[in-house]
Amino acid sequence: MTFDINKIRSDFPILQRKIYDKPLIYLDNAATTQKPQIVIDRITDYYTYENANIHRGVHYLSQIDTTAFENAREYIARFINAPKKEEVIFTKGTTESINLVAASFGRKILNKDDEVLVTAMEHHSNLVPWQMLCYEKEARLKVIPYSDKGEINLSTYQMMLGDKTKIVALPHISNTLGSINPVKEMIRMAHEKNIPVLIDGAQALSHLKVDIADLDCDFYCCSGHKAYGPMGVGILYGKTEHLNFMDPYQTGGEMVEHVTLYETSFNEIPFKFEAGTPNVEAVLGMEAALHYVEETGLDEITAHEKNLLVYGTKKLQQIKGVQIYGKAAEKAGILSFLIDDIHSFDAGTIIDKFGIAIRTGHHCAQPVMNKFGIPGTVRASFAMYNTREEIDKLVEAILQVKKMFG
Ligand code: ALA
Repeated sequence: MTFDINKIRSDFPILQRKIYDKPLIYLDNAATTQKPQIVIDRITDYYTYENANIHRGVHYLSQIDTTAFENAREYIARFINAPKKEEVIFTKGTTESINLVAASFGRKILNKDDEVLVTAMEHHSNLVPWQMLCYEKEARLKVIPYSDKGEINLSTYQMMLGDKTKIVALPHISNTLGSINPVKEMIRMAHEKNIPVLIDGAQALSHLKVDIADLDCDFYCCSGHKAYGPMGVGILYGKTEHLNFMDPYQTGGEMVEHVTLYETSFNEIPFKFEAGTPNVEAVLGMEAALHYVEETGLDEITAHEKNLLVYGTKKLQQIKGVQIYGKAAEKAGILSFLIDDIHSFDAGTIIDKFGIAIRTGHHCAQPVMNKFGIPGTVRASFAMYNTREEIDKLVEAILQVKKMFG
């Protein structure tokens, strides 16, 4: 497969626009990625020619939409190599997927004095639901530490897996430090003790190959909008045995089988967890986005982003006073840094004037900032359409920040 960066860039209409009369340089891809025309067209076509509710009608439009929706499930299941398509549940994103597992699985298995393991590098969405659950159940939240480089020590982790551990929740890739965690090995270690594992894959989908069957995780959560798809859609992968054991998360239409005025029996999976009208256009858009990723070549995308990371790291290290946070040997295209002792918001405001979009602050991972004793960082995160020239412009902007605050 040829990785044609010019063709890729021309597929994303927003990259043609200017910000402050300068070409947009979009380096906030860990927050959300831009969308290729094919995704925008899929959503427009849905509303122009196909709009109807699904799973509910005998009429033509409802039938073709139901087929399209279920085909999308099948395709997405294949994309992540999920063993069965009914193990893929559509949610509104990673956050909802994790909350669903905490509420419907965690609540059912956790008792007083049991333990939940998370890492100290979690995004708040894979931390707060477990905190709340532990509080409710009088259980303990135990935190797996990591080194200053951003690497989890596997022997410490192994020692923390005990008789009381009921679930482990881990990020595949840290949204702040960029660390690609050894999740396959961590899942294997937990399974040796029959402990289920949830993976927060928000930063992984479309940046590296997510292979559910190979990982053998119990749950995997990710979002469409961080993978070139629309906002408001994501998936929860769950093993059949767990999904059948779990209680529904929300109730209403579609998730039921039979309802009388006083009793209800539930639909089978995945529908048991999809109450109400789903975000049909977003599911179709997500399918289009993942097709686009597949056609572009996931291995090529991973290699391109790694190349940008290596180049960007080298360039930033050459600037006196720039401190990079997150130096794991296995790292995705995420560069968190500070410039001298300049506050990230001040730096971000100046960098923005170059037409460069980066994220500033704690990135919804305040415990990471606490570990390093800083209020926040500047974060550049890469996607398939970014270039070395854009990183050169970021370097120019950083030098300007230093000049203005120096
Ligand atoms: N989770 C997103 C980020 O890291 C919003 O920026």
